[in-house]
Amino acid sequence: MNRFVYAGVAAILSATLAACGGGGDGGGSLPPPVGGGGTPQLPSPASAPALKTTLAAKFGMANFPIGAAIEVASTGGTDAAILQKHFSSITAENAMKPDTIWPNKPGTAPAQPADQPNFGPADALVNFAATNSMQVRGHTLLWHQTVPTWFVVGDLNDTMGYRATVQQHLRTYITAVMNHFPDVYAWDVVNEAATDTPNAADPYRHDSLWYAAYANGGLDGKDYVVDAFMIAGEVRAAMNKPGLKLMLNDYNTEIPGKRANVLKIVQDVINAGAPIDGVGHQLHLNLNADVAQVTAAFAAVEAVSSTLTNHVTELDVSIYADPGTCFTQRTIPPCLADLGASPPQSVLSQQATLYRALFNAFNRPSVTSVSLWGVADNHTWLNSWPVNRTNRPLLFDTAGNPKWAFWTVVDSSITVP
Ligand code: XIL
Repeated sequence: MNRFVYAGVAAILSATLAACGGGGDGGGSLPPPVGGGGTPQLPSPASAPALKTTLAAKFGMANFPIGAAIEVASTGGTDAAILQKHFSSITAENAMKPDTIWPNKPGTAPAQPADQPNFGPADALVNFAATNSMQVRGHTLLWHQTVPTWFVVGDLNDTMGYRATVQQHLRTYITAVMNHFPDVYAWDVVNEAATDTPNAADPYRHDSLWYAAYANGGLDGKDYVVDAFMIAGEVRAAMNKPGLKLMLNDYNTEIPGKRANVLKIVQDVINAGAPIDGVGHQLHLNLNADVAQVTAAFAAVEAVSSTLTNHVTELDVSIYADPGTCFTQRTIPPCLADLGASPPQSVLSQQATLYRALFNAFNRPSVTSVSLWGVADNHTWLNSWPVNRTNRPLLFDTAGNPKWAFWTVVDSSITVP
């Protein structure tokens, strides 16, 4: 739309809304026009439409889950207000991981499980979601980075007995957790099972306690993935929740060599006759991201089977265009130097343009859920990953106000400075 026509529409609309006594949650309001033909100005926060409403309309799907990963702290204060207005789903950033839910019993060696699972923090998140009519994505039943060692304790010399013991631990855990959270709409059943070695003949990562436990006695380490999906499928059937999605979640699916590994694992699960409903694409991106490869990742999953769905599970866009070596070396350099608390506008504009292209790529029937890995730039894991450094990867700034990245996503006519 022509900018000047658009500005006129905005003026009429805002006058109409004012006459009606305000814009409610802002779902129908438009931002004010840019100032005087010069540099575009960031629209006022008050004029921001609700992200969830705008995107549900764009994607043509009522109740489309637009999520954010949160800790318990975000159920209050500014974050809670942002969540209530803009988001329709939450993910537990950490509270549903196995080391939080069912840690070792303190002081036990060999490790024993705590007497009771610790559902407290996750329950606080689920209650917040319920109170605010939000959906919940379950993350994650099984992840190599969070394996309480009691899961893999057993008699290593008794190969078949040991395998049965570990399988039983997995079953006990998955059954307890899925039943405790009957209303999640999807579970990341297995997180990050694929190796980073591009196009690997063996697509599984071996640096995993699960893989190692299953490989004991010369058995096949990769079987844990099929077992997890089998068990989750049985629990889902017993819960009578056929709509609950069972997902394989991983990062770097936008990189062809890694994507190939993830797809091989999906195929293994299907070939084994275990239920799998789709792939979670974490999409921890940076300014180098190639949106065409994000689209290619969705298309590749669609090509495996039309029954599979795509979820965007952990979206954020780092303001650093780091080289790949940054993630292996985790030092500055090769990671780029800290930009400080106020990154240049050019970087924020580049980020905004990328976010716009990404949400356009998400407008695709197979993509049925989009979640960001955080609410606002005041809290992001990227301040300490891959190095300690200020990052600003989300749609809302450190004060909780919509950034350029927000505006490019909600309004296709906005131009960035
Ligand atoms: C991260 C959390 O954000 C951090 O707080 C925690 O210390 C480590 O895990 N991929 C995932 C997420 O699947 O679970 C990770 O979350 C980020 C990378």
